[in-house]
Amino acid sequence: MTEAKEAILLVGGKGTRLRPLTVHTPKPMVPAAGVPFLSHQLARARAAGVEHIVLATSYLAEVFEPYFGDGSGLGLHIEYVTELEPLGTGGAIRNAASRLTAAPDEPVLVFNGDILTGLDIRALAATHTASGADVSLHLTRVEDPRAFGLVPTDGDGRVTAFLEKPETPEQIVTDQINAGAYVFRRSVIDTVPAGRPVSVERETFPGLLTAGAHLQGMVDSTYWLDLGTPQAFVRGSADLVLGRAPSPAVPGRCGDRLVLPDASVAPDAKIGGGSVIGEGALVGAGARIDGSAILAGAVVGPGAVIEDSLVGAGARIGERTVLSGAVVGDGARIGADNELRDGIRVWCGAVLPDGAVRFSSDQ
Ligand code: GTP
Repeated sequence: MTEAKEAILLVGGKGTRLRPLTVHTPKPMVPAAGVPFLSHQLARARAAGVEHIVLATSYLAEVFEPYFGDGSGLGLHIEYVTELEPLGTGGAIRNAASRLTAAPDEPVLVFNGDILTGLDIRALAATHTASGADVSLHLTRVEDPRAFGLVPTDGDGRVTAFLEKPETPEQIVTDQINAGAYVFRRSVIDTVPAGRPVSVERETFPGLLTAGAHLQGMVDSTYWLDLGTPQAFVRGSADLVLGRAPSPAVPGRCGDRLVLPDASVAPDAKIGGGSVIGEGALVGAGARIDGSAILAGAVVGPGAVIEDSLVGAGARIGERTVLSGAVVGDGARIGADNELRDGIRVWCGAVLPDGAVRFSSDQ
């Protein structure tokens, strides 16, 4: 069996720079379970036998290179390719291919950079080799497929179509969706047009099907989460800490919480649900933190209650303030006795006085 030793990791595109986290760090570098999210993907790829990774980005490689360098610290060889303008998923794969060393018939893994999953990467590569496919895709099943493009397969797992988001119940012909991990036969990547934006889902894959290519789906219903929203990101971080999402890059043992070095937590503070307390962060007396990520250097005042929320680096949360489903940007200062709920976003550096906001359901 030919093991896949090379991978392209897609970490560019329009939405990745600052949105949607309101945190100054680009999304792939925002800490999840204490390390930049990308670390988990790199470590998982390494554990599956990948040796060479091309990081395809459409903004500055300087964001990634100082942290990951040439990858040797992770046992990898990492190269960086930067697009002048975002080229879309297919265009980015084509652009990164100049750095691949695989022979035309060999497999190359491709990962979307915003997915957290327990996918058995070796099994995907093995399925690809065994089926002789041109491209193989990880498919996952979702309860409500209405928000996704659908990928039906036949009895042998061969992809039969790529369908746009269904608009009527009749159009929901399967609950299988593209889970954002692929194996390409190296030579297939060269058929993607160079130098212009190309979407794999809307152009490359449908085009390959029309041309009679063999696209194989592997349904694997392991842990899978699209980190497209801040709430999903917070969930993913907690699931990494709890061990529900497996990653060799979680620093320390999995458990109910992760308190990083130099963080200071009052003895009677209650921290659980996979919460992370970042380096140098302070948590005051009687605070309760559940399912949340408190980034480095943030300060949580006494008696504050924080659930399912992200508190950016260096932000300050005042005494007794309640956060639920909130995102507070880096360096923001929230005064005492505020109540911020349900998807609220506080911009980086913003200042909210004591007792300025409370939540009312108007009941
Ligand atoms: P298209 O298939 O190109 O239409 O993108 P999409 O909207 O289906 O992709 P999505 O936004 O879901 O992004 C999937 C992954 O590809 C994410 O990890 C993105 O960071 C990455 N990505 C999306 N567009 C680009 C791009 O233009 N360049 C690079 N390098 N990566 C991208």
